[in-house]
Amino acid sequence: MFALIAVAFASSPLAKGQSKFLGNIIAASVPANWDTYWNQATAENGCKWGSVDQGGAYNWGQCDVTANHCKTAGIPFKYHNFVWGSQEPSGSLTKERIQKFMTAACGRYSAQYIDVVNEPLHSPSNARASLGGSGASGWDWVKTSFQMASTTCGSSKLLINEYGIINDSGAVSRYLGIVKACGSLIQGIGIQCHEFNINNLAAATCSSNLATLASAGLPIYPSEMDVSASPESAQAAVYQRIFPILWKSTSVKGITLWGWIGGQTWKANTGIYEGGRERQALTWLKSYLDSADGKV
Ligand SMILES: *[C@@H]1O[C@H](CO)[C@@H](O)[C@H](O)[C@H]1NC(C)=O
Repeated sequence: MFALIAVAFASSPLAKGQSKFLGNIIAASVPANWDTYWNQATAENGCKWGSVDQGGAYNWGQCDVTANHCKTAGIPFKYHNFVWGSQEPSGSLTKERIQKFMTAACGRYSAQYIDVVNEPLHSPSNARASLGGSGASGWDWVKTSFQMASTTCGSSKLLINEYGIINDSGAVSRYLGIVKACGSLIQGIGIQCHEFNINNLAAATCSSNLATLASAGLPIYPSEMDVSASPESAQAAVYQRIFPILWKSTSVKGITLWGWIGGQTWKANTGIYEGGRERQALTWLKSYLDSADGKV
């Protein structure tokens, strides 16, 4: 009888007791039922350089919301991010200014993970000349960023993050070229997995690109997953096709979704919970992670 009662309730959070996390983002405040589902958090915007550095003065308000919640819930906090060509502060963008920002961030938080460089292929930082430019390795500015983070934030796992990877074998090899240029400084590979990369992604393409990426021998973190297919049964179908491939890969050590509440996500129709109701994708995720196949 007790066993019957136990199976009637999905575990909470969804990846509870598993060897990898299933996380999500937090914006300005923590939604009431956030902990029912997720066990890792990334601030949606609050920790970005341009959000924090307001003309040299630091505003940690929204970054604190996520970091504090991680502490309270006892779950990993991913700091997102240090060096990125979007949402940078105004004024001159120099290596010294980035160093000061890293020192302040890692003095304030002990993040389990840090996205040190975000989108080096698609949106390289405008501070890159000051960080050494392309240089001899072709990616000296990325390498310098990781050297700085390694010295400043040595207890965090240092990640690189990019989009347009899981759907594109050419991008996988360009991305691996950056990882290689940085020697052993990069400790994990983030792949964003947004809707524009996975809505129409074939399972076979996903598997083969993931396998190539895994050849680097580093942990892989699908970091910003969302799906916008419509109607909701189509959205659930994309989750069913792609999520298990990522979740079951031994190289993947945790997955972060990029939003979940309909109307509060950056891309239309990516919500998997709406009007107090779990959409089919979330219902499926829940049952999948509770099934034998979804246990990792
Ligand atoms: C992968 O997605 C990106 C958008 O992020 C797109 O520009 C690129 O053409 C896609 N690559 C393939 C091979 O489909």
